[in-house]
Parts: sequence; C-alpha cells; structure tokens
Amino acid sequence: MNTAMLNTAVRAARNASGLIKRYMGRTDSLKIDQKHLNDFVTEVDKLSEQEIIGTLSEAYPDHAIYAEESGKHNKGDDDNKPTWIIDPLDGTTNFIHDIPQFAISIGMKAEGHLQVGVIYDPVRDELFTAMRGDGARLNNRKIRINPNTRLQGSLLGTGFPYYQYDHLDHYLAILKEVITKTSGVRRPGSAALDLAYTAAGRFDGFWEFNLQAWDIAAGALLVQEAGGIITDFNGEHDYMQTGDVLCGPPRVHQELLDIIRATA
Ligand code: IPD
Ligand code: CA
Ligand code: CA
Repeated sequence: MNTAMLNTAVRAARNASGLIKRYMGRTDSLKIDQKHLNDFVTEVDKLSEQEIIGTLSEAYPDHAIYAEESGKHNKGDDDNKPTWIIDPLDGTTNFIHDIPQFAISIGMKAEGHLQVGVIYDPVRDELFTAMRGDGARLNNRKIRINPNTRLQGSLLGTGFPYYQYDHLDHYLAILKEVITKTSGVRRPGSAALDLAYTAAGRFDGFWEFNLQAWDIAAGALLVQEAGGIITDFNGEHDYMQTGDVLCGPPRVHQELLDIIRATA
C-alpha cells in the first residue's frame, strides 16, 4: 500500500517538476502576488499544486488533501482520513530570484503517522523518498544519518525569521551560540531541502521557527527514517502544529535543544 502511494507521489512530483522547469529563468514575466509580508506566490506555485492534486486525487479520490495554495480538500486533515500534505514549490523566493534551490514536497499522513515522504529537487534531479519503517533514500540509494556526529565540527542548516519577529531575539541568541560551537551555518531558503539534506547527512542538523505543516511533513519522515531525531523546541512531537522544528543526529539534536532552552 505504502509503495503504491510512494510511486504515485513520485509521479506527481515529477509531473509538476516538468512544469516548474518550463518557467525556470523566465520569472521576470511571471505574475507574482504577496500573500503576507515577505510571503510570495507565483502562477507556477499554483499550477504545480493543481498538477500534484490532479495526480493524487485521480489515484486516491477518497483521500484528503492539505495543500499550501488551495487549503483543504475532501476534509483536509480534520479527521483521521489519509491526508496528503503538499508544498508545490518550496523556496519560492529563490525561484523568483533565479536561485536554483527549491523543491516539491509531498507527505502522506494516515493512522496518526507520516507514512510516505517525497522531496524532489528538479534542478539537480535529486529525489528524496521515505516510507515509514522502510528507511530513506536519495535517488533510490539508502541514506543514513551518522549517529556519532556532535555539534563541535558540524555544519547546520537553518531558516531566518522573515515574517514573524516575536522570536527574533531568541533566534539570534541561538545563532550566536551555534556560530561559535559549529564549523558553519547555512540558510539555503528551502526548508524541505534543508530537512532532506539533514537526512542525507549533508547537514548535521537543522532548526527553524514558524514553519508550516507542508514545509515539514515529507522532510520529517525522511529525517526519522534516516535515523535522526526531530522535535519541536520543547523536545516534544508537536512540530507539525507549532511549526518550530529542530532535528539532527541524536547528540546534535540534544546539544541544540540545550542551547534553545538555555537561550529562551
Ligand atoms: C519557505 C521556505 C523557506 C523557509 C520559509 C518557508 P515557501 O517556503 O521553506 O526556507 O524559511 O519558512 O515558508 O514559502 O517558499 O514555500
Ligand atoms: Ca514552503
Ligand atoms: Ca511553497
């Protein structure tokens, strides 16, 4: 069952990526709207979402959908229905600026757990996939987090606050600690890829405040299936609700959690 769902999600992501690629480098002619402060949406986000929803709902007409641009379909995630959680273009600001760091993210939640996760980078043709209990893969090769990694010497990913500044002082206090305790920090601009890179061991950890369920769903399963820990800033599992995400190998996760608590 999960394999069939994974294959459908991969097909949906690949179909949508064809569309995104057609618009790459032509963004000056695109219609761009601002949803909220610093939160942009293009025609491409919307077309990509329609394409993904079309593929998923044709295969699974009874499933619910929770998508960034069009919201809830078929009851969203209000009840226990299997729900597809979709970010049709994660990294829209990069896309608008012709920076080749963006992805499609599709997660599936059923029976209270994330079951399937797909993150596809159309620029590099990198397909990150995960199925609950079956591990995580990059282009069909297993990926695994190194359990011995520590904060000292690590490379972390993050996202800066850009529309909600309530936690800015806390964020900067964390960043100050992290800068002095690691070998570096990156802010690439696609949370889905940041999570996928953590699962692949490219990043040794990642944290960001105020994400949305569609930024997180697929990537959270990838991190878990690759052997990482993902929590909110209380060390609990409410990250899809709070949007505050912290993840990495067990030791890095714990050291980061200590910093987040000590600086709060
Ligand atoms: C954004 C990206 C970015 C993160 C933001 C997200 P979008 O998603 O993931 O890295 O910092 O919080 O909203 O708007 O490009 O889909
Ligand atoms: Ca996003
Ligand atoms: Ca998006």
